[in-house]
Amino acid sequence: MEDFEPIIIAFVCNWCTYTAADLAGTSRLLYPANVRLVRVMCTGMVDPKYVVKAFLEGADAVLVSGCHPGDCHYINGNFKARRRIKLLKEILPQFGFDDKRLKLTWIGASDGIQFAETMSRLVSDIKAIGPSEAKMQMVI
Ligand code: FES
Repeated sequence: MEDFEPIIIAFVCNWCTYTAADLAGTSRLLYPANVRLVRVMCTGMVDPKYVVKAFLEGADAVLVSGCHPGDCHYINGNFKARRRIKLLKEILPQFGFDDKRLKLTWIGASDGIQFAETMSRLVSDIKAIGPSEAKMQMVI
């Protein structure tokens, strides 16, 4: 699928990764337009249901990204997110999804360059894996 353009849903923390995305934009850094940002106040509020729903509705990948460990504005929300993502990665194959489609990253507010690089890398990784298993079933 040469013309495959993945849809990536990114749940990003307001205080860190969202600010880094904003910085990337104001710094005119280029990154693929495949990423749809969903701003949340903390990665700790990303319910696993949101992730599963994104996959079931056609996302090719889901990214959860927030403050570095120790920097969470709600003390330990990012640690909760890390535990949930670990469990989700174990559960996703039972739904028929490759666990490489779910990523967790820490991108601080001043890391605009890291944000742009992470998005570019994620898009190229997902292009290599191909369209989501849910989309493939819809085609058949
Ligand atoms: S406030 Fe950013 S991950 Fe919790």
